[in-house]
Amino acid sequence: MASLQEFILSLKEKDLQRSDDIDKLLTNFQISFEDCKKYAFVKDSKGCSRNLIFDEPEVCRITLSVWKQGFQNKIHDHGQSNCYFKVLRGSLEETHFPNGGLIADTVYEEGQVCQMTDTGACHQMKNIHDGYSVSLHVYIPPFDSCYTYDVPGGAAIHVTPSFISRYGFAVDRESRRLLDL
Ligand SMILES: [Fe+2]
Repeated sequence: MASLQEFILSLKEKDLQRSDDIDKLLTNFQISFEDCKKYAFVKDSKGCSRNLIFDEPEVCRITLSVWKQGFQNKIHDHGQSNCYFKVLRGSLEETHFPNGGLIADTVYEEGQVCQMTDTGACHQMKNIHDGYSVSLHVYIPPFDSCYTYDVPGGAAIHVTPSFISRYGFAVDRESRRLLDL
């Protein structure tokens, strides 16, 4: 757990309104899946399970996502939030849509960090690993709702993503701890 806690402490010490090196911080900390295992829950009805680890309102939020094999989420934005994620297990493919344009798909393997900090951008992610993938996400500031799109630049659908666990505790009986990958 040490590395995850140290990472959170380091984040707290930063002026997150101004800091532009969160990606480097996330890259340099050797956070492993084992560090975050207590937060890893899955739910049969969810292709991507979101788990809340840390939340400082209006400042920063850290979450853990567990992706089922082959699952791809919808194209979405993050409101006004900057997003960073690190792959802890498996591999994720990210398709980035800067203001409606298209950047080629990029594959992020274990230990690699991706960021979406360009205003108005959207992205879409897919688990291309042969099994679960797990990713650690940092949102600055947190957001509680965002928009999804069926096609790039298409009609915006307002959504409120939910968590299946908070601070290491399941929110309902359907959420179960991920014991093996
Ligand atoms: Fe995202």
